[in-house]
Amino acid sequence: MQLWSNFGERVAAGSGIEELMEDLGHALADGGEDCLMLGGGNPAFIPEVEAVWETRMKELVSDSAALRKTLAVYDPPRGNPSFLRSLASMLRKEYGWDITEDHLAVTGGGQTAFFALFNLLAGTSPSGSLRKIHFPLMPEYIGYSNQGISPGSLSGSIPEIRKTSPHGFKYHIDFSVLPTDETVAAYCVSRPTNPSGNVLDDEEISKLSAMAKKAGIPLIIDNAYGLPFPNILFRQTTPLWADHHIFVFSLSKLGLPGTRTAVVVAKPQIARAVASMTAVTGLANGNFGQAITRPLIEDGTLLHLSQNFIRPYYEKKMRFARAKVADCFPKESSYALHETEGALFLWLWLPDCPLNSRQFYQKLKEKKVLVVPGEPFFFGLGKDADSWRHRHECIRISFAMKDDVVERGLELIGAEISRAYGM
Ligand SMILES: Cc1ncc(COP(=O)(O)O)c(C=O)c1O
Repeated sequence: MQLWSNFGERVAAGSGIEELMEDLGHALADGGEDCLMLGGGNPAFIPEVEAVWETRMKELVSDSAALRKTLAVYDPPRGNPSFLRSLASMLRKEYGWDITEDHLAVTGGGQTAFFALFNLLAGTSPSGSLRKIHFPLMPEYIGYSNQGISPGSLSGSIPEIRKTSPHGFKYHIDFSVLPTDETVAAYCVSRPTNPSGNVLDDEEISKLSAMAKKAGIPLIIDNAYGLPFPNILFRQTTPLWADHHIFVFSLSKLGLPGTRTAVVVAKPQIARAVASMTAVTGLANGNFGQAITRPLIEDGTLLHLSQNFIRPYYEKKMRFARAKVADCFPKESSYALHETEGALFLWLWLPDCPLNSRQFYQKLKEKKVLVVPGEPFFFGLGKDADSWRHRHECIRISFAMKDDVVERGLELIGAEISRAYGM
């Protein structure tokens, strides 16, 4: 007897990424203390930021009316009305966005927001045709890859790769291959991008936005690392609002992934649909993330923390990690690092390496260095990409860990590159 539905098969019967996360988890558990974990996406523990959460939690616990509201009352599916008002007001003030709380809907983390958005917009349409979420620049966030309920409802484009220095490169959207037909339900980009640390510049976003507008479809911008919070950005950008843009903000990379809180900002029709999805699948959202951050949004603390602690903290770590790479990776090899313009990762390309990224990952695991192989970040590419070697040649390395872990990990990766290329 068949146990699973098609949906059950897709979600519950295992995925490449689940296997990999299991493998990483076991390697970490078996490797104990001396394992060098450069594989995760967990934000760092920043003392000044953690102190603010601690103060806010104490305030909440010592105020019995506020505590009751947070612990014992269901919020509306769209989110806490005061929180929504505060965030809408901050976005109006900071960026001049023409929005109200009707444009906002809280979800249980960004991951849940994308599941809602992808399946509200893409899949089998009322006319029977399959419409897709299209990712204009692959590689993209691994967490999207299994989220389309309808098979084939996620697709991606191969980017242009431009060398920026002997050991540097950067992806750019290849606008000439971007589909604009009626099979596309929306474009989606993470900005900054996980895994590559790429940041689409304002010109690329404007061009993408114009193409989306012309096609009559939304442009989804995943702001997990972006402005105004957590602001893990190392180049200048402007968050641009338009009626067909959908932004997803998350509290996770501020250091609050345990609160599972994100906010979709979109035209009211879409924000309302996301709230309906919450009502159907979860009734309401968790209250804690909203309760902790609301006063911090109102008094400017959240922006202050992002600008003056979170961004500089990661920028320093990024510079440290890139300097270490320059120091200990073999200069005579063809390794290349993507420009690190935002997020928490180095994205390493090993062109023509005799080992593919999974084999390289295994070799590093034997040395107790844990990274993430690049292949699962290249999804939805279809047959065209079969001969594209690049997607087997990259690995993702987090630099959010302690400096000594990053340093020892990178030294061992450098030694493994020399071995792999036979130097
Ligand atoms: C680009 C990107 N989007 C979304 C998410 C989802 O984060 P969360 O569900 O914790 O908000 C992540 C998490 O790592 C991410 O890197």
